[in-house]
Amino acid sequence: MRDHFHSTTPHGEATRGHVIHWAPVYDWVFGGILRRTHGAVVDLAALSAGERALDVGCGTGSLAVALKASAGPTGSVHGIDASQEMIEVARHNASRAGVDLNFQVGLAEAIPFPNGTFDLVVSQLAIHHLPDDLKQSAFAEMYRVLKSDGRCLIIDFEPPKSVPWRLVARMVLGREMMRISVTDYRVLLENTGFTKVETGRTRYRLLSFVRGQVAR
Ligand SMILES: C[S@@+](CC[C@H](N)C(=O)[O-])C[C@H]1O[C@@H](n2cnc3c(N)ncnc32)[C@H](O)[C@@H]1O
Repeated sequence: MRDHFHSTTPHGEATRGHVIHWAPVYDWVFGGILRRTHGAVVDLAALSAGERALDVGCGTGSLAVALKASAGPTGSVHGIDASQEMIEVARHNASRAGVDLNFQVGLAEAIPFPNGTFDLVVSQLAIHHLPDDLKQSAFAEMYRVLKSDGRCLIIDFEPPKSVPWRLVARMVLGREMMRISVTDYRVLLENTGFTKVETGRTRYRLLSFVRGQVAR
């Protein structure tokens, strides 16, 4: 089992992001919980039939699978992850679900698509895996690959507010997770040039979102 802070993709690109290589275990541990939250995320994403969406740090691809129903047969959903193992499981999951999705190894800070490709970029629970300078690069890349009226939706962990629950969360998830702040993401999105930036909570207490629009 490998899980370290410096990883190289099969194309030789290195990232300082925290790459997860234990993909089959990830699905087994978190898959059931995450699948229950996808309905709320799909609602927030508001993807329309025929649109093109990209999931950055897609992991085992379950959110991409859920999004495909909104994109419909004329739309497309793509997923990238720095982990080859995650991409392999994502492809397997899509094929088992009988949906046509496009997964490839790729980095959030160097998204392997041309300018203006997507209507929507989503990223769930992945941005906190990047050091601060790469977070800003990842948002700049999302902006670049979005169409002129495209939008991004970032979902991440919201540390609990009450002291007892913070202590429990810190014990289970580690100190780093307690530093996640959707407000910080908001500033980074605004610095990148996104407009109409707003934050909020999903229906799930521990998941918050920030979203913004491109205005070129
Ligand atoms: C906690 S998982 C979330 C996966 C999925 N989005 C979900 O909601 O289940 C974070 C993912 O980010 C990926 N990751 C880490 N650094 C990355 C980078 N620089 N570019 C793309 N993905 C990265 C990890 O490999 C991992 O699959």
